[in-house]
Amino acid sequence: MRSTKLSIITIVLVQVACLNAYTQKFENLALTPPMGWNSWNKFGCNINENIIRYAADAMVSSGMKEAGYSYILIDDCWQAGRDSLGFIVADPEKFPSGIKALADYAHYKGLKFGIYSCAGRKTCGNNPGSRGREFQDAMSYANWGVDYLKYDWCNTEGQNASESYSLMSDALFEAGRPIVFSICEWGLSKPWEWATEIGHLWRTTGDIQNNWDIPDAKEGKCWAGGVLINLDMQQGLEKYAGPGHWNDPDMLEVGNGGLTENEARSHFSLWCMLAAPLIAGNDLTQMDPVSKDILINQDMIAIDQDKLGKQGYKIKDYGEIEVYYKPLNNSNMAICFFNRLDYPVQVEFDWTSMSLSATRDSKPLLLGSKIDRKDNYIEGQYSVWNVWQKKSVGTTSQKFIASLQGHDVIVLRLTSVTKK
Ligand code: GLA
Repeated sequence: MRSTKLSIITIVLVQVACLNAYTQKFENLALTPPMGWNSWNKFGCNINENIIRYAADAMVSSGMKEAGYSYILIDDCWQAGRDSLGFIVADPEKFPSGIKALADYAHYKGLKFGIYSCAGRKTCGNNPGSRGREFQDAMSYANWGVDYLKYDWCNTEGQNASESYSLMSDALFEAGRPIVFSICEWGLSKPWEWATEIGHLWRTTGDIQNNWDIPDAKEGKCWAGGVLINLDMQQGLEKYAGPGHWNDPDMLEVGNGGLTENEARSHFSLWCMLAAPLIAGNDLTQMDPVSKDILINQDMIAIDQDKLGKQGYKIKDYGEIEVYYKPLNNSNMAICFFNRLDYPVQVEFDWTSMSLSATRDSKPLLLGSKIDRKDNYIEGQYSVWNVWQKKSVGTTSQKFIASLQGHDVIVLRLTSVTKK
């Protein structure tokens, strides 16, 4: 009896070891952070095939596709159950034409198409998950022409995250169609430490909410946070991101009405500085011009999509005013000044010492910085381009002086004009 038990344990251990040893993912699929649209932030479970088709239409007609957005992603609540053979079936009322027809439609529009499932037996919306059906579901997705899978983590009590995600990664690989694998485990077991070989992006936080800040929500205490909470959880994760494997601070809330214009611009800019996936979460058919201009800002998108694939990070932290830095291809770089205060300040940045001073009504504001990363000091000279003002603002031989609005950013792109 004891030896039977032991040999069963051995078989299980060997299987798990093999599973880990052979995990493979499709390479060259997300060499820059994925860009697209997902139904969840705006529509939640109230989705149907027309909403998805109209989103695809609007992605093209609004200029989003031209700006680089390509994935149309259905989130939770498309599933109805399983057929007699266990194959996953779409809700016939919401999706009467079936999922393959939607994938075909997205492809016909020159877009890519993605879907959602969960590592547990049930999704977060209580629909059938993929637990125990991983290979069968991966085959369905491949047959339908799916290009992207977001894979959630609800109802997984007792499951090991890296094993569960490896299993689905293997299933996708076996099914043979290149599918971007988006790990949605909310950062609970530090997927940045184990998911590089398994997925193409992984969530680092709980669900973003349609607001700037939730005063009571502190990291680890509250499940869902506003823009600031998700932003602050990225610090220190920059070394884990790179071409084909990205930290994901969750989808965008630009255009959903919960942020002021300054806040929406900051949210988008900071996500670009972080080389975050840019997954719009608003109603693309009803975009106001301000939200659209933010989402399709070419210079900002170029910073996010820069092929060097480095995630930016905070190099100075003066409390309420911060400086972010992102190295770019060809020795260029992006600098972002971010004002958490709700009033404007005058900032002065000295490129030689990389030090910032700020004043309000001519009174000095800043004390010493809590962070001082010296790995980014500038050598040589750079021309400076103000991304949101869309104009050249001199070179790094002069101080940069500007007014920085409350809850707003100034983003500068520096292009090398001298050889190092
Ligand atoms: C979780 C995910 C969200 C969304 C919902 C759907 O909360 O983190 O992004 O997919 O599930 O139920």
